[in-house]
Amino acid sequence: MEEKNFIFKSSSAINHRATWQAPSNIALVKYWGKHGDQLPKNPSISFTLSKCVTTTTVEFTPRLSENDPWFSFLFENKEQVNFHPKIKQFLDRISIYMPGIKFQRMSISSSNSFPHSSGIASSASAMAALALCLMDWEKKSNPVLSDSLFKTKASFLARLGSGSAARSIEGPLTIWGENATFKNSTDIYAVPLTSKVHDVFYNFQDTILIVDRGTKKVSSSLGHQLMNGHPFAENRFLQANDNCELLSKILVNGDLDAFIEVVESEALTLHSMMMTSSPRFILMQPNTLTVINKIWDFRAATQLPLCFTLDAGANVHLLYPETHAPAIKIFIQEELSQHCEAGQFIEDQVGQGAKKL
Ligand code: PMV
Repeated sequence: MEEKNFIFKSSSAINHRATWQAPSNIALVKYWGKHGDQLPKNPSISFTLSKCVTTTTVEFTPRLSENDPWFSFLFENKEQVNFHPKIKQFLDRISIYMPGIKFQRMSISSSNSFPHSSGIASSASAMAALALCLMDWEKKSNPVLSDSLFKTKASFLARLGSGSAARSIEGPLTIWGENATFKNSTDIYAVPLTSKVHDVFYNFQDTILIVDRGTKKVSSSLGHQLMNGHPFAENRFLQANDNCELLSKILVNGDLDAFIEVVESEALTLHSMMMTSSPRFILMQPNTLTVINKIWDFRAATQLPLCFTLDAGANVHLLYPETHAPAIKIFIQEELSQHCEAGQFIEDQVGQGAKKL
């Protein structure tokens, strides 16, 4: 599918209301470095989550004139003008692919299932939920739109809002960015993994330890930018491609030792890129390192397949099979929760993708 296939020109403004719930996702192979219009420098693979979701409703009405405000935005029922520039930038970008939205007034209202200021980035689930509402509007004007094009274009639009949002439409695993092993992969949208994924991964657990609830000191946009001219960038992009290939086999054969190797190496490589860019920065906190060391000790002592990954922040995602959840949850409660802000952690697991409500 090429960009030109995503252009939809509607003839008249309509009244419509759409509500979609989109999940967050956690990358196993990380996307870090972009070019052009949110195109990734390397492919990434993620687990789609299930409980960390954004729910968005958009009410579409005809826009009376250009002076009529294009959109309004409520977050958790409160007017949030500080989000306006990001939403406007997104709507401007996507209006090339659905010019008809210029003639609609959109009342957008969003809420997250995860707590306020938990330090969990919501841009992936938020942009995915908004993109799906816009696709719902397109489907109303173009009822013959196929389900598959609906989802593909939703991922394409979400990517223009926030790169990793492209991976928040479908589940349980998606790949975004061209990689030779995944024949249908592309830089312009994410696709679900088509090979038969091993049963162990279907209900994989992700417990998110809230090590730091604060907002990030360095935005991901700046972090991506710092990969331009980064001394290790080219090798990093090659490594991510190799790790996608490795993971494609692991996800089918269920080899958890190999899974842990790839996933933890990816997490620490992401943070190594941050620590070696110019300017350099560190998003991990002392408690992030304490938790990592405790996970390694626990794994050595129990042989249980518990591993970690990190986002662009200090919080730690603990990944493990559901069969080992009872023992691991005791370990989290007794040993790890003391390193979380206010003892806070979120229990999530792999999910099947976004839902229309
Ligand atoms: O989608 P962005 O621009 O917020 O970048 C996300 C980057 C990471 O979360 C660090 C990695 C990833 O692949 O999700």
